[in-house]
Amino acid sequence: RVTRHYKFNIKLQNVTRLCQTKSIVTVNGQFPGPRVIAREGDRLVIKVVNHVQYNVSIHWHGIRQLKSGWADGPAYITQCPIQTGQSYVYNFTVIGQRGTLWWHAHISWLRATLYGPIVILPKRHVPYPFPQPHKEVPITLGEWWKADTESVINQATQTGLAPNNSDAHTINGLPGLLYNCSAKDTFKLKVKPGKTYLLRLINAALNDEIFFSIANHTLIVVEADAVYVKPFRTNIVLITPGQTTNVLLKTKSKAPNATFVIAARPFATGPATFDNTTTTGLLEYKTTSSLTNTKSNKKLPLLRPVLPKFNDTVFAANFNNRVRSLANAKYPANVPKTVDRHFFFTVGLGLSTCSKNQSCQGPNNTRVAAAINNVSFVMPNIALLQSHFFNKSKGVYTTDFPANPPFKFNYTGTPPSNIMVTSGTKLIVLPFNTSVEVVLQDTSIIGAESHPLHLHGFNFFIVGQGVGNFDPKKDPSKFNLVDPAERNTASVPSGGWVAIHFIADNPGVWFMHCHLEVHTSWGLKMAWIVQDGKQHNQKLPPPPFDLPKC
Ligand code: C2O
Ligand code: CU
Repeated sequence: RVTRHYKFNIKLQNVTRLCQTKSIVTVNGQFPGPRVIAREGDRLVIKVVNHVQYNVSIHWHGIRQLKSGWADGPAYITQCPIQTGQSYVYNFTVIGQRGTLWWHAHISWLRATLYGPIVILPKRHVPYPFPQPHKEVPITLGEWWKADTESVINQATQTGLAPNNSDAHTINGLPGLLYNCSAKDTFKLKVKPGKTYLLRLINAALNDEIFFSIANHTLIVVEADAVYVKPFRTNIVLITPGQTTNVLLKTKSKAPNATFVIAARPFATGPATFDNTTTTGLLEYKTTSSLTNTKSNKKLPLLRPVLPKFNDTVFAANFNNRVRSLANAKYPANVPKTVDRHFFFTVGLGLSTCSKNQSCQGPNNTRVAAAINNVSFVMPNIALLQSHFFNKSKGVYTTDFPANPPFKFNYTGTPPSNIMVTSGTKLIVLPFNTSVEVVLQDTSIIGAESHPLHLHGFNFFIVGQGVGNFDPKKDPSKFNLVDPAERNTASVPSGGWVAIHFIADNPGVWFMHCHLEVHTSWGLKMAWIVQDGKQHNQKLPPPPFDLPKC
């Protein structure tokens, strides 16, 4: 077993995009941030030193953090933030996972510029269950704001209105050809003919699900959220914030006389108030002819891919359905067959009343909020994991998060009369090894958007999904317990539902939230407490000595 050390210096860096320079928060001055590489089974020791005026924390998205919950990273959930001038060492072992994951800041909106790939290679001498690629390329999709993103979210919080959209989407931090003043900031993938490339796609965008495609090239999906899947061919990949998808790209056997556009733009189901811009990169074949062409100043024809309509829900449902676990002898899908606790969660937007010191620019003196089972989550002032571990929950959180919504939910009928949400720091306690089923039902009361629900500390199986109301009598009989996708982030379709299963085998406090940052900011989040097991190796160890203080 190998230990790999990294040092993340959080510091400001001037970066120019779209002809405007701004100072952004980075790791080591890099944007996007540095790649973390490990092999399955390795230990990662990452020292994060905060040199900026903001509080910071880093989350290792999708890493299971088995009995290392202190290293998970969401601010005020597993740790207090790292304050200016302070540092914290994230120390964890990658157990039973290999594939693409990513890291990002987990406080306020700092993840807009603080993110990077995590590449976990299989153990030595263990091959991929697909052809060995000639080259591996991380492709991280993101969003860029001309304005300072902390001001964007702070202003939205003050007014109670929606924050401004981003000014561009990006591929590896670059907006690409279609934006003004951006042609030179275009991602280029240079390939050789007749080879297989492994593209490690990451959706690090704050607020958009994304379609991804490369003109005239078919992609083969082989992995999702660091779990191998049954390979399938597609021209377009749908990837929701938080998710990672590995695809194989087979290049043409002979270098064609063309350059191929790589394009990514949002999938959204609501009215088109989202940022519907397209980011582009270029797939270029390394050939002598392209050299000749540059010399003669003749440009190769540029071929563009065709992406679905921004609201193509049929494509989305079909694509998500095609993602299936390998479920073979080597990579079994250990789907829990029985359920100890069943939860039904409604997820969606609503309105909340304002307290005196807030401005209420929403309808009838309210502000926009988002909730699970009508509870809009309030962030505590000290980390939940600390208060849980030291038995000091009083005044920090309660354990009465509702297992069901407070009203009878009917998506197909008129919306429920009560769209007002309540608020609180409410959690659910699960005994060690509880087998959990959660049905997540989108309400679409206000607006219509799918919600990428992300669970920390676990992979879950997506055993079912559907449109309209979940039917507790009929739908469970159709659940797929054979080869469901195993992931850490699932898209709850707009006006539909997904059902997930997981085993609570990881003691700690685990955040679950929408990975659309705007919805998280409005309260679409909650947390689970998983208790220690009886055996000695089923207990969460005490915190490291340098755990930040609030
Ligand atoms: Cu990718 Cu709670 O985060
Ligand atoms: Cu959401």
